Amino acid sequence: MSANVYNNLKDYVNDHILDFMPEIDANAKDLYDAMVYSLTAGGKRFRPVLLLASYDLCGKNLLEALPYACACEYIHTYSLIHDDLPALDNDDLRRGKPTNHKMFGENLAILAGDGLLSAAYEIMSKDMLLYLDNQEALNRRARAVFSISKGTGVRGMVAGQVADVLSEDKHCSKEMLKYIHTNKTGTFIRACVKAGAYLGGADKVTTDKLDCYGENLGLAFQVVDDILDVISSKEELGHSIGKDADQNKCTYPALYGLDESVSIAKSYLKTAKDAVSGYYDNAEALIYAVESLEKKING
Ligand code: IPE
Ligand code: IPE
Ligand code: MG
Ligand code: MG
Ligand code: MG
Repeated sequence: MSANVYNNLKDYVNDHILDFMPEIDANAKDLYDAMVYSLTAGGKRFRPVLLLASYDLCGKNLLEALPYACACEYIHTYSLIHDDLPALDNDDLRRGKPTNHKMFGENLAILAGDGLLSAAYEIMSKDMLLYLDNQEALNRRARAVFSISKGTGVRGMVAGQVADVLSEDKHCSKEMLKYIHTNKTGTFIRACVKAGAYLGGADKVTTDKLDCYGENLGLAFQVVDDILDVISSKEELGHSIGKDADQNKCTYPALYGLDESVSIAKSYLKTAKDAVSGYYDNAEALIYAVESLEKKING
């Protein structure tokens, strides 16, 4: 049942993800192809679904949130293209397909990432322009964009990615590990949930509960990603495994061992679930997102 609610939102994102691609002139066809290649290569659509699910808890018309949800997937896709570059994690496989730089070359991959990031802000600001004479609707949108830009920028994802690459081959403290995971992954996921709450006009109590959910789910997500890099398979993940250990990355399994990492992830997931369980059916997709992560590390 709850899988259906989640999958319906995922289908909604997949059906419309390319509707928001800016028109690109013929000279930039290669750029367009590189952007579309990674956008349509698959992926769980975790962040846009969370934004929509959070919106759905209080908002009236899901269509309002769609540009922001898709913009988040554009930003996420850019981050993956750059994360896979030889200068960062140097990965050949992503979402079950050759990475963007393997297909289009490093120059195009860097620029496709830049294009996706800029497109995201074009999508969101274009939508905001429709509401210049509706202060209330504009306020909700402005708060959402602020949340997304903060979570993905130099006080969020980019800062975390910097700490991640600079910590390779170095001793990493538990504080630094938490900093990396909170920033490179957690803050963006938290921002998507918060953006959904803002767009939906959630009251203070619901916004705080959703924020607690997003914070804990976001951190758990990267702990689970670390665990899967040890216990899962290339086929299941659609990207390489065992790379974290090879590259001497600062991860939960490296610092805490596998069993304790699983306990830590479960504890964050429980806090996330508890934060929204009072919303019962209205939080089905949010709860399913938690359970899908629990399932991956339970066995
Ligand atoms: C991968 O994100 C990068 C991390 C932050 C761990 P996802 O696991 O959401 O990747 P896709 O979107 O499903 O490919
Ligand atoms: C990536 O973390 C976080 C991003 C901001 C993209 P990872 O480097 O652990 O993600 P995977 O394992 O390559 O998907
Ligand atoms: Mg990385
Ligand atoms: Mg990586
Ligand atoms: Mg990883």
